[in-house]
Order: sequence, then structure tokens, then C-alpha cells
Amino acid sequence: MSTQQAEPESQEAPKDPEMQGAESPAAEKQKGGGMVDQTSTDASELEGETVHIKVFRYDPEVEAKQEPRFDDFHVPFEKGMTVLDAVMYARDEYDSSLTFRHSCRQAVCGSDAFFVNGKQRLGCKTQIADLEQPVRIEPLPHQEVVKDLVVDMDHFYDQMHTVEPYFQQEDLPDGELEEQRQSRENREKVKMSTRCIWCGACMSSCNIAAGDNEYLGPAAINKAYRFAMDEREDEEIKEHRLRILEQEHGVWRCQTQFSCTEVCPKDIPLTEHIQELKREAVKKNLKFW
Ligand code: SF4
Ligand code: FES
Repeated sequence: MSTQQAEPESQEAPKDPEMQGAESPAAEKQKGGGMVDQTSTDASELEGETVHIKVFRYDPEVEAKQEPRFDDFHVPFEKGMTVLDAVMYARDEYDSSLTFRHSCRQAVCGSDAFFVNGKQRLGCKTQIADLEQPVRIEPLPHQEVVKDLVVDMDHFYDQMHTVEPYFQQEDLPDGELEEQRQSRENREKVKMSTRCIWCGACMSSCNIAAGDNEYLGPAAINKAYRFAMDEREDEEIKEHRLRILEQEHGVWRCQTQFSCTEVCPKDIPLTEHIQELKREAVKKNLKFW
């Protein structure tokens, strides 16, 4: 099987690395709420072929790489190949300086959320055969780019911690080994909200978060939902969290655009959870901003 890498060529990369992606035609489509073009190819059609990926490059520490650009790589296709597999191949075989995060390779750690063909996706969960070529791979929009596909997640983590994402119940069961039981119905209620892997895809897709840096964002609100609806959590703490959520940059900022729900790789009904928390806030306080 012959493999080759095209000479990296400069593409029409935006000047401001923080705003990359948001300016691409695909991103423009997404802003309008539409899905980007996506074809599903029979993987056997690609066997023996190379796939063309265009990868965003930026390195503020190397003078020659401070201007954002896209590099082209042609990667030999293998059945089941994911976007992460393709960028790993490009790094291992063509350019060891290509930088990105990954760990579990099975949609659990949340570290490889990229902007692929104009949509936030987990690299390890996205099949190359399902994408139009060339496959354009960029860092998550609306976050500061540290290098290549790596973005600074500090603000996202700060927002997550704002809602105090841990149990704080006063009444613990007697005895060290005693379980803290939950009814089946309550488990069903919170089940989806517990699936969050902190990948940041939802926050990156949210127009409100892009314009309001203080907005808690869908992931943090979902995390608050997870505890707000859990029958084992302390009632006073639930009220305390609700007060955090109904602040000016909390749930009332959400304009139910569903972009977060659309991109979440764990299929969490984020917009629905935000709406439910708005209703809870109304029941408690009737406070609007
Ligand atoms: S809610 Fe979904 S998209 Fe948002 S951080 Fe969690 S897993 Fe990722
Ligand atoms: S590598 Fe862990 S979620 Fe993709």
C-alpha cells in the first residue's frame, strides 16, 4: 500500500487562532442551526485508499508556526479508522510535532473533542468513513488555542466547579460499608445526566457561551441537574445550587437553541435539563433576568 504526505500547504486560516473554525463555512452553517454535510461511505469502498485530512496548525512558541494554517496529510485507510486514528498516524509517521490530546480512545475520558468538518465531535468516536473528504480537523471553537488541536480548558473546568459537582449530604448511612440507596425511578431520572465526560463540546457549540464568558454553560448546568434531581442529596444544598443556577449568567441565559444537545457525544438531553431547572427555579422564586 503506497502512502504519501502532500507537502503541507498554507490554507485560508483565520488570523485570530481563538476565532478559528467559527469563520469557516461549515461553522457558519452550524451557527444557523443546520447540520453540516455528512456522507456515510461503505468502508469497503475506502479500503486500499488514502484519506485526506486537513489539520489546523498553530504554535505560538515557534516563530515560523505563529501564523495559523492547515497542513494536509494523506493517511492509509483501515476499516474502522477514526478521526483520532488518522491524526495519530499523521503524527507518528509524518510530523511528530503535531499536537493533540487523547487518552482512553473509547469515548470515556473526554480529552479528544475536536471541530471536525464544522461540528464538535470526539475524535475517537467519529468514523472517517462517515465524513466527507477532505476531513477538516480543528481545535474546539471559542476556546483559546494553546497549540495545534489543544485548547485551554481552564475556563470550562472553572464553570463546572462553580456548581459544586459533588454530593454534600449531611445524613450519611450508619456504618462504613452501608450503601446509600437510590430508587430505580430516581436512577432513571438522573441516568443520562451522569454520563458527562467533561469534553467541552457542548460549551464550544453554544452561541450564548461564545458571547457571554460568565454563562455557566450547558455542561455545568447539566452537572447541577444531576445533583438537583438526586433524591440522596441534601435539600439545603439543592436550594443552594438552585440559587447559583438562577443568577444572571445561569439557566435564564439559555435560548434553547439545542446546539449543545446536538453535539453531545453522550446523547445527554442538555437543553431539556436546562428547561427543567428553569421550571424548578420558577417554582421556588419566580425570578427572571
Ligand atoms: S454534556 Fe456532553 S458535550 Fe457537554 S461536556 Fe458533558 S459529555 Fe461533553
Ligand atoms: S480519547 Fe478519551 S474520549 Fe476520545
